[in-house]
Amino acid sequence: MNVDVVPAIAELRERLSPRRRTGSIGFVPTMGALHEGHARLIDRARSECATVVVSIFVNPLQFDRPDDLANYPKTLDADLDLCRAHGVDMVFAPSAPELYPQPPLCTVRVERLADHLCGRYRPGHFAGVATVVLKLLAIVQPDRAYFGEKDAQQLAIVERLVADFNLPVEIVPVPTVRAADGLAISSRNQHLDARGRALAPALYRALQKADRQIAAGESNVASIVAAAAQEVPRADDVRLEYLEVVDPAELQPVRSVGGPVRVAGALWIGRTRLIDNILSTPPSKK
Ligand code: PAJ
Repeated sequence: MNVDVVPAIAELRERLSPRRRTGSIGFVPTMGALHEGHARLIDRARSECATVVVSIFVNPLQFDRPDDLANYPKTLDADLDLCRAHGVDMVFAPSAPELYPQPPLCTVRVERLADHLCGRYRPGHFAGVATVVLKLLAIVQPDRAYFGEKDAQQLAIVERLVADFNLPVEIVPVPTVRAADGLAISSRNQHLDARGRALAPALYRALQKADRQIAAGESNVASIVAAAAQEVPRADDVRLEYLEVVDPAELQPVRSVGGPVRVAGALWIGRTRLIDNILSTPPSKK
């Protein structure tokens, strides 16, 4: 089975148009460096849609640090192998000038949803994500688009983007894929050395500790966060950027847990930044 790589928008539209008439289109937007997390999204799309399109585009608009953009892994051949193995029909891999022939003067401004969690530490990041996702959805015009819960803030913003602009697409959330030790699979994990990789599961352990407290009925967020943060090893090159408890809809910090919450964190290990989150539910009140 082969996978078609299409770099041009016009050609992609031309190829999709007959398929659109006969069946549904599923879309998985990515920045490449594909791994098991991406594969899970693709498999889900494959099981639900007649045609599966994956985009591979490292979007400069969403990078707040030039070194992160420069060091972002590029593994196109391996990415295409993965797409082929998982039955992808088409890979849309545009160049930067194809997607941004001129600097965009119209971009998406994200209010409220980007104020906390990663948004606080990565100014402009989610505006860049929302802008490129809007463009990609306009280009591919899928029936369904698949996003990972690993990037819960991104997922919430995309869901709101679709609602606010009445985009005719169903956003399908896919649970986080983890390594056996709990670390969420990420393209950035490959920047970790052996020691860093061994420390990395601490982030998920901290989230699980918060979850256990919430499930046991603890409602005070300050004490939940303080206890969870103890899971983070003390070392010069390890830094917890944030560990926050927010409402799952608008991602605003809560001080007391009274219903389902999202617990999210970002952990620096050396020059690598890891993020993770879980949805946590307190015991129901009798
Ligand atoms: P990227 O980081 O390549 O991720 C593409 C999709 O894969 C996202 O929806 C992300 O949440 C999902 N994903 C990554 N790791 C995952 C894991 N371990 N389990 C489940 N899903 C996982 O996110 C982006 O690209 C970009 O911001 C993009 C949406 C493509 C816009 O540029």
